[in-house]
Amino acid sequence: MSETPAAFVSQGSGAGGGEAPEIGVGMLGYAFMGKAHANAYKTLQYMTWPPPLRPVLMTVAGRDQAAVADAAGRYGFAHSATDWHELVADERISLFDNTGPNNVHADATMAAARSGKHVLCEKPLGRTAEESYQMWECAVRAGVKHMCAFNYRFVPAVRLARSMIDADELGDIYHFRARYLQEWIIDPHFERVWRLDKTVAGSGALGDLGAHIVDLARFLVGEIDAVCGLTRTFIPERPGGEVDVDDAFEATVAFENGAVGTLEASRFCHGRKNALTFEINGSKGSVAFELERLNELQVHLVDSRPGWNAQGFRQVLVTEATHPFLEWWWPHGHIIGWEHTFVHEIHHLLQAIATGDDVRPYGADFEDGYRAAEVCDAILRSSQNGVREQLRYRTM
Ligand SMILES: NC(=O)c1ccc[n+]([C@@H]2O[C@H](COP(=O)([O-])OP(=O)(O)OC[C@H]3O[C@@H](n4cnc5c(N)ncnc54)[C@H](O)[C@@H]3O)[C@@H](O)[C@H]2O)c1
Repeated sequence: MSETPAAFVSQGSGAGGGEAPEIGVGMLGYAFMGKAHANAYKTLQYMTWPPPLRPVLMTVAGRDQAAVADAAGRYGFAHSATDWHELVADERISLFDNTGPNNVHADATMAAARSGKHVLCEKPLGRTAEESYQMWECAVRAGVKHMCAFNYRFVPAVRLARSMIDADELGDIYHFRARYLQEWIIDPHFERVWRLDKTVAGSGALGDLGAHIVDLARFLVGEIDAVCGLTRTFIPERPGGEVDVDDAFEATVAFENGAVGTLEASRFCHGRKNALTFEINGSKGSVAFELERLNELQVHLVDSRPGWNAQGFRQVLVTEATHPFLEWWWPHGHIIGWEHTFVHEIHHLLQAIATGDDVRPYGADFEDGYRAAEVCDAILRSSQNGVREQLRYRTM
């Protein structure tokens, strides 16, 4: 990363692009994540210039014919389908993007990979480590590019934290402390949506929110070696049926490199909307991050000037043109948002497809999705048996 402060630059001039090759995209699901991904496919075509590939939105799949046709019109897909097999069979589609609920991740994504399509799948990759492993194995055997959509790796401030750790700016890492808190299911009258049904979701706050912070723990600090977990279901019965997943979890984690950490996620925290936070403490300094203030990274370095008489965290506004991803956006101080993480993420995947480069280490591939699932499963097992669980990762 350049040390030069960015000027108040014009972001409108192109790098000299010409025509980017096209790639046909088929997408399963068109609600929350479908909207976020569709927005990214369109936006990256003109904001990142030239794009590595130009996504052509071919077909979107869902279950309800009228609703999915409406979604196709809204998001700019040429066609709609009520059976995802149509996307798998369509040779014009080279990238299959799965934004469906967790129970439709495995079959559709693996079928697409087997038919030679590159695959992007939302997190958690599978509902269990076993299902996630099968998906990883299938994508590797198929020889396609595979990405698990851990989009928080693509927040500029998170990437800055990673580059500071890689450059040894924080020294030896001692602590990783992360929480992911929401409030939206506290009301006991709130119905049992698919996220509260184990058959569909696999787990509750753990797979939905916890998987993100497990991935960030691995991305920023390293592999997790052992966990102690505790899960709780506060409201086991809701309109619509039984809740058989966790409403919240707490875990302590030991990293292979000697660091220790705590992870926590819940959807029962009044006042917390989408409050993903983490802090990392190392021998030379600390960083802290809050998703709801995602343009900022709190930094404290022990050898910074003027030294001990002016101690404390400083707030780094991560919007310089030299900061990760900011070259595509606005002059410094003109902040970006949550939706831009998907632009960065999908750009990264298209770059890997176009160049043949690996999705790793900055993007999460299906091995990362599998490894996060192993950690989540171990937290569940530990909660059930009351014992510290040693991680055993499968290899290929
Ligand atoms: N990366 C993130 O920050 C993030 C955020 C939210 C959700 N997610 C993940 O994205 C996935 C989707 O979550 P969401 O919030 O968009 O869910 P959602 O309920 O808003 O949307 C799910 C979509 O899938 C469709 N669908 C449901 N069942 C289907 C089936 N059997 N066949 C075909 N289509 C089906 C629905 O019609 C809908 O369009 C989940 O795996 C979730 O964990 C990731």
